[in-house]
Amino acid sequence: MSEHDDPALWDRMAREQGGAPSAQGMAEALDALLARLSPGDRVLDIGCGSGPVVRAVASQVAHVHGIDTSPDMLQRARVDAPRNATFSLGTLDDFDDTVTCAVLFNVLHHLDEAATFARLHEILPSGGLLFVFEARHEHHQEHGDENPHHVPFTPARFCKVLESSGFAVEAFEEVGVGAWAAARRG
Ligand SMILES: C[S@@+](CC[C@H](N)C(=O)[O-])C[C@H]1O[C@@H](n2cnc3c(N)ncnc32)[C@H](O)[C@@H]1O
Repeated sequence: MSEHDDPALWDRMAREQGGAPSAQGMAEALDALLARLSPGDRVLDIGCGSGPVVRAVASQVAHVHGIDTSPDMLQRARVDAPRNATFSLGTLDDFDDTVTCAVLFNVLHHLDEAATFARLHEILPSGGLLFVFEARHEHHQEHGDENPHHVPFTPARFCKVLESSGFAVEAFEEVGVGAWAAARRG
């Protein structure tokens, strides 16, 4: 485990900075996500941090739930949270509800990719949206995060992993320090 997987680091960041730093390209990724959401959607935001994605999507969907392993990030996220937003402490393994869309913003590199996609395949219905925004490997390295889950977030490799997990990639775009991908559960 790298220190970037330790909830204590994120707790400290929540207390000292009010949340995780916003990665360049995140605004474009949010626009691409919003364009794919419908009013009836139930969204799961994995590693929601202080809740920027929850707040951005809440008015466009029926419900949004954020999960995170950092109590202090969640405390921040709950401040002025939208009425249709809920939060819980834990990981994807602790979540047992159904959703129509799952989003991972700046968090996939903390997780075991194959296990995450396998679990999301169970949670999402056929055609359900999986949306990922992730910084490039080199960006993380520049910031001293040598997390063992870091893998090159390239279209070829990412599409292969998703397809072998039962998802079809419908769009992949490089933006800012990283890229976003939208995929549908088969
Ligand atoms: C870089 S921050 C991103 C936060 C938010 N998604 C954003 O874009 O601002 C990573 C977040 O993932 C959380 N996290 C790390 N490992 C996690 C896990 N296994 N399950 C859920 N959340 C996790 C951290 O506590 C932190 O809040």
